[in-house]
Amino acid sequence: MATGKSTVGRSIAEQCGRAYVDIDTEIERSAGRTVAELFAERGEAAFRALERAELHRVLDAGGPVVVSLGGGALVDRGARLSALERGVVVTLEATPDEIVRRACDTASRPLLQGADARTRVDELLRLRKLAYTESHARIPTTGRSPDDVARDVIAVWRRDPIAVAAGADSYVVEVGADIAAERLPSLLSGASLGLLVTDRTVRGLHGDGIENGMEQAGVRTATVVLDPGEEHKNIASLERIWSAALVASADRKSLFVALGGGVVSDVAGFAAATWMRGVPWLCLPTTLLSMVDASVGGKTAIDLKTAKNAVGAFWQPSSVLCDVRHLSTEPSRGYVSGLAEVVKTALIGDADLLGFIEAHAAALLAKDAAVVTEVVKRCVRVKARVVSLDPREENIRAWLNLGHTVGHALEAYGGYGKLRHGEAISLGLVAALRIGERLGITEQVLSERCILLLRVLGLPVDLHSQPLARAVDLIGHDKKRGGTRLKFIAARAAGRVDIVDLDIQELREHVLALAG
Ligand SMILES: NC(=O)c1ccc[n+]([C@@H]2O[C@H](COP(=O)([O-])OP(=O)(O)OC[C@H]3O[C@@H](n4cnc5c(N)ncnc54)[C@H](O)[C@@H]3O)[C@@H](O)[C@H]2O)c1
Ligand SMILES: [Zn+2]
Repeated sequence: MATGKSTVGRSIAEQCGRAYVDIDTEIERSAGRTVAELFAERGEAAFRALERAELHRVLDAGGPVVVSLGGGALVDRGARLSALERGVVVTLEATPDEIVRRACDTASRPLLQGADARTRVDELLRLRKLAYTESHARIPTTGRSPDDVARDVIAVWRRDPIAVAAGADSYVVEVGADIAAERLPSLLSGASLGLLVTDRTVRGLHGDGIENGMEQAGVRTATVVLDPGEEHKNIASLERIWSAALVASADRKSLFVALGGGVVSDVAGFAAATWMRGVPWLCLPTTLLSMVDASVGGKTAIDLKTAKNAVGAFWQPSSVLCDVRHLSTEPSRGYVSGLAEVVKTALIGDADLLGFIEAHAAALLAKDAAVVTEVVKRCVRVKARVVSLDPREENIRAWLNLGHTVGHALEAYGGYGKLRHGEAISLGLVAALRIGERLGITEQVLSERCILLLRVLGLPVDLHSQPLARAVDLIGHDKKRGGTRLKFIAARAAGRVDIVDLDIQELREHVLALAG
């Protein structure tokens, strides 16, 4: 509201050589009425419906355009999530006093009419706070020229971030080659301390670049180096981080920086969740699995003896940087294992991604930076969409368990070490596809297509070589079980899954039938 969105929008469009669309102007043109008249004659709800329809029309027309939207346009969460997924949404902010000063022409601003303008502005900002927070960036405009603001918006647009809408804890994920060192200084600015948490292997390979980037931010830094491996995702590692934080006098303005695979991000994220009852943390995933899965959604945890992820918290990172260049050193078995989660993600929510992987399998296996960037971005987008709709794993977040029911059983039977997680998930996907066929949900052609793709990517797909008959008793033996039934995820089509409430015994019989 009165933050200069039209002037800034026009300037961005001009500088980037893109078309500019002002939604209010478009509505006024097609309705033959001013916004104020539409509000007066039809009311706010009707105006919002026109606004949503117009926005969809513009987005459907394709091609990057610069769109300016009124402050109330994305208050509806459905409209907001759709805009966040299809575009880069930037909130231009100004102080209430500045808004009142700029909005002196209240005749054309129906929402400011009537009551005292300052009170009304305060009330609108309070009501819309959440909507403004769930955006790709919030840019201050008070005391700044439109060109200055436009420059900031263009910089955000160029980074093409992915938003994870999580209310006040919303954040963005940036994906690209060589982005970590470049972005660190601004992400650390304002922190009283940057506490780097990494493991020995990753530190040796990538620690210097990250420590240099952190030093350039001009903040005090400290580093804690953990022993690598799942067996160190435990209370001892957590305690080492707490102790390092204590020695470095970390306060509530400290920023924890997790550099490593899913083990480091799970334990460092949990340390951040618990240090002084919660400090912000930045996630720099260095394995494919941690980029496409562990870094998004705010689940943090440690293992307790044999109970995986037994103790943890939901604690969203303040930012995620997926620097695909870090993957160049990831050992091949781990990287390929991560590709199983990529195929799973495509099956859950992105049919085009499945085709993209098929078309670029060789480049993906060769870790071609452009192809990996596209794949990671698409996976993050799917996971962001799922967790934005179900942050606490109450309903559709169960989709992410596709392939995991049988996969976990095989992984646990091997004693968490024989099969890599992704290898077990590859086999679990094969089982889920075949069981989906038996349930009349999955078409055989889809199963064949996915199994071929998993095979091409170098993942195991032969269920007959696995101890299915012996692992079957472990199905449902995890914390997600509720009584004698479980939620089985079946593939309805490429990019679409169903949640099927199944009796565990019935599921075991299906698995035994697959074992032959
Ligand atoms: N929080 C979540 O939502 C979530 C989701 C999925 C998995 N996870 C967790 O993630 C963990 C598995 O993650 P992971 O597969 O990344 O394992 P990991 O963190 O153990 O990393 C695997 C190994 O690769 C090394 N490594 C990491 N990055 C490297 C690089 N760039 N170059 C060379 N070596 C590198 C590590 O030192 C380690 O030895 C599990 O504990 C799992 O529970 C969490
Ligand atoms: Zn998994």
